[in-house]
Amino acid sequence: MGLSACHNHHDFRALAKRRLPGPIFNYIDGGADDEITMRNNTRAFDRFDLVPNVLRGVSDVDLSVSIMGQDLDIPFYCSPTALQRLFHHQGEYAVGAAAEAFGTMFGVSSLGTVSMESLKARHKNPQVYQFYFHKDRGLNTAMMQSAKEIGVDVMMLTVDSITGGNRERDLRTGFSIPFRLNLRGIAEFALKPQWGINYLTHEAFRLPQLDAHVDMGGGAMSIGRYFTELLDPSLNWDDVAKMVREWDGQFCLKGVMSVEDAKRAAEIGCTGIVLSNHGGRQLDGSTTAFDQLEEIVAAVGDRLDVMIDGGVQRGTHVLKALALGAKAVGIGRYYLFPLAAAGQPGVERALFKLREEIIRDMRLMGCSRITDLSRDMIVERERFSRD
Ligand code: FNR
Ligand code: LAC
Repeated sequence: MGLSACHNHHDFRALAKRRLPGPIFNYIDGGADDEITMRNNTRAFDRFDLVPNVLRGVSDVDLSVSIMGQDLDIPFYCSPTALQRLFHHQGEYAVGAAAEAFGTMFGVSSLGTVSMESLKARHKNPQVYQFYFHKDRGLNTAMMQSAKEIGVDVMMLTVDSITGGNRERDLRTGFSIPFRLNLRGIAEFALKPQWGINYLTHEAFRLPQLDAHVDMGGGAMSIGRYFTELLDPSLNWDDVAKMVREWDGQFCLKGVMSVEDAKRAAEIGCTGIVLSNHGGRQLDGSTTAFDQLEEIVAAVGDRLDVMIDGGVQRGTHVLKALALGAKAVGIGRYYLFPLAAAGQPGVERALFKLREEIIRDMRLMGCSRITDLSRDMIVERERFSRD
């Protein structure tokens, strides 16, 4: 099956699985503990039904939204994800270019494999820098300074990663960064020679946001060790309020899940929050962003932009989130599997497919623009069994 036969998330995932060495596929595909939250993220959308209106005469559909001062042509964006050039040698180059082609924003991770500077120089579309708060305060200051100097549009501090999630798939495969080919790894890679050839014949793998400041131990470091050894667990609201003041621009917290924290984010001047459980990769058993959305929008939706990510695999998932008040929706694995499978053409096909689904679904909903979506266009199916 090639890229042209990929019509949805599951097709892209199957193609990526065929092309990636096992340890890398499982790093992307996996979640924490028993992966219950990861599965619930997608299931949460199925508990709600859309209520279409007909005969509304929908000819043109306008999918544009504005979030945190950024004008996007579509109501979804590429959430920040680490290590992209490990999945495909084009990595963040491909994702930034595809996001630009579709007029949306993309996130560059602290664990990104292409520098925020080179991406900002290449692309005009909004760029989010996803910040991890390290024990090394000099590194934190240098990262903020670099992001400010190059004109990063949105600072996004991830706050759900005070320690690493229990990723048992990675424990079993020995997945680590920088990637180290141990005997088992070599065996895995021997089965996927094209990946190995690309890995060895393109720009060397590096972590440009980090490598001027952090010695990743010279050897291999698991993601869990990165979280536990390098990130600062003492990070608190006062530290973040100081960062918001220093940044003095569009500042977003990613990983907020409670109403109380959403209110605190608004109080310290954040301009956005992403309700997220990190794709089920951190606290297994956590509730889902979609389940928290309506209550949090009611609490703070008039003071900052509320977005969600986690488990999005269909255009209807995006519409359900927007109908409950999300201003936009982040996607993760939905674009990572196509990246791994086929680089920029893969990501572009995925963004095209999701946009195409949303346009069709908007027509079937009787909506011409995103602001036509409202709370009365979505019902919780549970309500019928309760009544
Ligand atoms: C992530 N995510 C993530 N988040 C973040 O703030 N910084 C990061 O470096 C990463 N890295 C990362 C790598 C991989 C392989 C995945 C799958 C995810 C989390 C990401 O931003 C987003 O919250 C989830 O991916 C959303 O869930 P879905 O769409 O993947 O189900
Ligand atoms: C992950 C980290 C890097 O989810 O955010 O793997």
